[in-house]
Amino acid sequence: MDKPGAAAQYVIAPAEILAAAPKSVPLADAAALPLVGLTAYQALFDHAKLTAGQRVLVNGAGGAVGGYAVQLAKNAGAYVIATAGPRSSQQVKTAGADEIIDHSTTEVTAAVTEPVDVVLNLAPVDPAQSWPRCPP
Ligand SMILES: NC(=O)c1ccc[n+]([C@@H]2O[C@H](COP(=O)([O-])OP(=O)(O)OC[C@H]3O[C@@H](n4cnc5c(N)ncnc54)[C@H](OP(=O)(O)O)[C@@H]3O)[C@@H](O)[C@H]2O)c1
Repeated sequence: MDKPGAAAQYVIAPAEILAAAPKSVPLADAAALPLVGLTAYQALFDHAKLTAGQRVLVNGAGGAVGGYAVQLAKNAGAYVIATAGPRSSQQVKTAGADEIIDHSTTEVTAAVTEPVDVVLNLAPVDPAQSWPRCPP
């Protein structure tokens, strides 16, 4: 315990909550996947109950959680509207978004003209001000 690192080899955990690290992904990336991936999954499906055919707006889709949220929502059969600035636009497109709104040039609430079933706000904006019609 005198070297840098997490000393994960000494952690005790129930076997059923462990999964083998994928071989096709660098270990550091694989270690980060559960936190961001589960955050996206739980927000979309446990909390928002997103289902196939629904429309979801992912605000802040260019970030860590957003990349997973877009892919998971698309995989579930939802129609995904995503916001992304110039630096993350291509990545969000590759993730599978149906529509991309550039939040750096466009007022997002004005650009989304049709109702959405779910708003997943991952951006550092005040939801009460940005999404006044959403329940808390
Ligand atoms: N990361 C985790 O493991 C984790 C776990 C639990 C909870 N959370 C929470 O989830 C939220 C998102 O986390 P994150 O790690 O994904 O953050 P992040 O990587 O910083 O992503 C946030 C994204 O928001 C976009 N953005 C900035 N200003 C915006 C605006 N005005 N309108 C729309 N989009 C804007 C930026 O994308 P552009 O490149 O498009 O500008 C940025 O990439 C945070 O509230 C965080 O506390 C994160």
